[in-house]
Amino acid sequence: MSDQETSGIQHSLRLLTRTLGYFLPYKKNIILGLAGMLVVAPTSAATAWLVKHIVDEVLINKDSTALKVATIGIIVLMCLKGLFRFFQNYYMNTAGLLAINAIRNELYERMLVLPMRYFNDTQVGMLMSRVLNDVGLMRQSLPSLVMLVREVFSVIGLTFYVFYLDLQLAFWGVLVLPAALYPFIYYSKRMRKLGRKAQTSVSDVSVLLQEGLSGIKVIKGFATEQRETVRFKAQTKTLVSMTIKQMLASEQSSRVMEFIGAVAAGLVLWYGGTRVIEGSLTTGALLSFLTALALLYEPIKRINSANIDLQMALTGAERVFEIMDMTKVVSEKGGVVELTEPFRELAFENVRFAYDNTARPAIDGVSLLVKAGERVAIVGSSGSGKTTLANLLPRFFDPQEGRITLNGRPLRDYDLKSLRRATGMVAQDTFLFNATVAENIAYGATREYSREEIETAARAAYADEFIRELPQGYETLVGERGVKLSGGQKQRLTIARAILKNPPLLILDEATSALDTESERIVQLALENLMQSRTSVVIAHRLSTILTADMIVVMENGRVIDQGKHAVLLTRCETYQRLYEMQYGCASS
Ligand SMILES: Nc1ncnc2c1ncn2[C@@H]1O[C@H](COP(=O)(O)OP(=O)(O)OP(=O)(O)O)[C@@H](O)[C@H]1O
Ligand SMILES: [Mg+2]
Repeated sequence: MSDQETSGIQHSLRLLTRTLGYFLPYKKNIILGLAGMLVVAPTSAATAWLVKHIVDEVLINKDSTALKVATIGIIVLMCLKGLFRFFQNYYMNTAGLLAINAIRNELYERMLVLPMRYFNDTQVGMLMSRVLNDVGLMRQSLPSLVMLVREVFSVIGLTFYVFYLDLQLAFWGVLVLPAALYPFIYYSKRMRKLGRKAQTSVSDVSVLLQEGLSGIKVIKGFATEQRETVRFKAQTKTLVSMTIKQMLASEQSSRVMEFIGAVAAGLVLWYGGTRVIEGSLTTGALLSFLTALALLYEPIKRINSANIDLQMALTGAERVFEIMDMTKVVSEKGGVVELTEPFRELAFENVRFAYDNTARPAIDGVSLLVKAGERVAIVGSSGSGKTTLANLLPRFFDPQEGRITLNGRPLRDYDLKSLRRATGMVAQDTFLFNATVAENIAYGATREYSREEIETAARAAYADEFIRELPQGYETLVGERGVKLSGGQKQRLTIARAILKNPPLLILDEATSALDTESERIVQLALENLMQSRTSVVIAHRLSTILTADMIVVMENGRVIDQGKHAVLLTRCETYQRLYEMQYGCASS
């Protein structure tokens, strides 16, 4: 065996033992399943024995007592087999389902602790496919392995039996067995290779599906349904051809095994038949022998199909563990310092940050000081790095150079949860969960909020009035499967969420999407309430925000080019003048 093959086998064994680890908590089920199996296995050998008994005693000796025994024997045997096969299947499969459930939950849990950086360049559909499809494949790992082991024992047992029946006949019967080894290994490898390709293809389809369905508005708006369908068809074509190849390989391997079995049976028939004709062997002995032989090739075929399932399970395991292991390397890590003291100041010191795979830094040497109670407005043209700057505060991303300190301590030192609790983020795009209005407002609560607190927050966010008009008020379901809210209403719900959270430091990325004047005015009032007596960093798109800011930071190409009060900037900063004229439609004075 080459080194490569040895390491391949070691890799497979590692995957297997790791997967089996997830079955361990369900030992009870597995033991019951195995117990069932222990009874099922010898019934095969017993069947072979009964056949010999029937032929020799009943058909040839015409023994009527033997007939009764054989009849009852067959019925009892089949009942036992049925009952214990039920045990075996039911408990084994339950263990499998519970194990993959545990794997699935762990995978999702681990995905959520991957840093934003990872989600930034990974397709959601691919991740969904791993959780749904690849994990599903792993279910067959233990049942297949058990079947494999069981059938290997059956083969060994039956081999002994045929040797016991007739040495020379047995020799001809098992002569071809070693020949089965080569196709077994060959098809194992092939199934794994095809399995990998097929699962990648499933994932690609899932990516397209996720993209198409979440971008349905754009697809319809541009009337590109047909083009998208063509794209989808191309992807499913790859998938189906991969699946067909898999099926072909699986069929081929089964047929090859059967062929090897047929050759063995042929050899035995030829040799045994010759001896029956010569009179040195009874007909019953030959028939019994052929039955045993037939029974011997059944497990060989099952070993083959168990192996195919096992290879598929390992393909899934490979892809699932790939993500799980990634979390060991890159999961979000915070420090140990609990952020409990009141907010004093936030400082950026020559911070530089570039997204992965981008040449130009999005934040290019920014220094900034925000003191408690201040309202800092950040302005700059689109793409100047405002949102990126805000994303650095809750450590969605970490700067590559420079540092950010809070109360004099680098952000990295703080426990991530406590840091994120201390910073309230109202993002540019609102997101509501598929839950009630009240649950959405209280989302992420660290303690139980009373209904009164939730309503107070909603009132401060000017949301109370419209919430009361909803069919079930605060209990109305919103989000994907619930009542749909307008842009302004959604914004007010997220503002209520931030008010309830009551963070000492507020990061506000004002929505760029224009609301009509009336709801704009209400959202503005809600925001005023939110920012009241709080330190806030606001990415400003509203005139009122910049006019009331203690300091305005002007950004361009990831750099801070000037900062100061509105009146000052208007006189000395050209970029600011231009922005001011463009965004607020006011001529500089
Ligand atoms: N998730 C991302 N991955 C890679 N690059 C990004 C990502 N988000 C933004 N960028 C890049 O970083 C730069 C700054 O983007 P950013 O979103 O911070 O701009 P912005 O000032 O918030 O703009 P806007 O006013 O339009 O919201 C842009 O050049 C953009 O292409
Ligand atoms: Mg932005």
